[in-house]
Amino acid sequence: MRMVDLIEKKRDGNEFTTDEINFIIQGYTNGSIPDYQMSALTMAIFFKGMTDRERADLTMAMVRSGDQIDLSAIEGIKVDKHSTGGVGDTTTLVLGPLVAAVGVPVAKMSGRGLGHTGGTIDKLESVSGFHVEIENEKFIELVNQNKIAVIGQSGNLTPADKKLYALRDVTATVDSIPLIASSIMSKKIAAGADAIVLDVKTGAGAFMKTLDDSRDLANAMVRIGNHVGRRTMAVISDMSQPLGYAIGNALEVKEAIDTLIGKGPDDLTELCLTLGSHMVYLAKKASSLSEARELLEKAMQDGSALEKFKVFLESQGGDASIVDDPSKLPQAKYIVELKATEAGFVSEIVADQIGTAAMLLGAGRATKESTIDLAVGLVLRKKVGDQVQAGESLVLIYSNFENVTEVKEKLLESIKISPEKVKPPTLIYEEITI
Ligand code: URA
Ligand code: CA
Repeated sequence: MRMVDLIEKKRDGNEFTTDEINFIIQGYTNGSIPDYQMSALTMAIFFKGMTDRERADLTMAMVRSGDQIDLSAIEGIKVDKHSTGGVGDTTTLVLGPLVAAVGVPVAKMSGRGLGHTGGTIDKLESVSGFHVEIENEKFIELVNQNKIAVIGQSGNLTPADKKLYALRDVTATVDSIPLIASSIMSKKIAAGADAIVLDVKTGAGAFMKTLDDSRDLANAMVRIGNHVGRRTMAVISDMSQPLGYAIGNALEVKEAIDTLIGKGPDDLTELCLTLGSHMVYLAKKASSLSEARELLEKAMQDGSALEKFKVFLESQGGDASIVDDPSKLPQAKYIVELKATEAGFVSEIVADQIGTAAMLLGAGRATKESTIDLAVGLVLRKKVGDQVQAGESLVLIYSNFENVTEVKEKLLESIKISPEKVKPPTLIYEEITI
């Protein structure tokens, strides 16, 4: 097989065989296929696309390019949740303990990554003593015992995807549905999930800005997962404004605690109950979605979800007393109020710009080397659709520096107030199963 012939084949719109896809991914991973040929191929894929079968083959070829996590020693159906990323998305912190409380095993491998706030691990590390550097055996033991544990990324997972994603980033070929879908799904599958619930965000703060694009991506991932024998479903949810009120690491831990007892923001609570119901159902812990939802609501109300969070923190060295006394979480030196300059109804809180403001405060990493300030961030006091008076508080800015002028300017630019009544955005657009 010659790579040049394969580039030509895709350029002319033809379908690859399984062997051809394996040849390409193996060759690219081991360096026998150079970047310039792979670049030409990704551009051909960008224009000509891939069939469902090719996408599934590409996904599995990338899974086999590196280590695969074996979770078979964990009892039960391991359901993983993946979000395509947003601003102030506290769902993982809530969902882990929540579904674990009703018996769904949560074996989470998590990374740090870049973004407006830290990743799940960073957020959890705002609990003093909590750590994710645990041995594999300990991890498995904890999941069997408590139904939940989080481990830091180790091993060499999907090296083909790492190399390919970096190449796509500099060749204008990131925005290709088959390539994005196989990239995301390969990582979930290599991490050992039996079933996958996807939260595909849509709107200003999302990777996919329009509903059509989000739906295409969701469909593509659901088809890949089911094609390769992992039951997969997707929820398309709003990310035009941030989810919940808190954007920041320790601030989101506090928000997760509130949500675990049913006292969190409405949108975050509803999305967690929806995603959670699908996880419980796929894990076969309930025979219908409505039964699953009842179980989760009960775990919020009777305190078992919060209790699970405490056990989880403690079993990984964390100080669980922060749950009853969140003032023990890292605290910012200054809390500055941003006030509305006019009266009306909040018509827009542009999520990605709010994310940028959180980053200016130090809540997230711009580069791999940046350090994160766990204490800082933003707490929204209003959401889209809310009425506001002039001089009323819009946002609380948690900062470790006194001068937050730039942050305030950014926030004022991204929050719009209209004289007319505004409807809050739809939270959940679609639920996609096959
Ligand atoms: N996120 C991924 O993991 N891969 C992509 O290709 C795009 C977004
Ligand atoms: Ca939030």
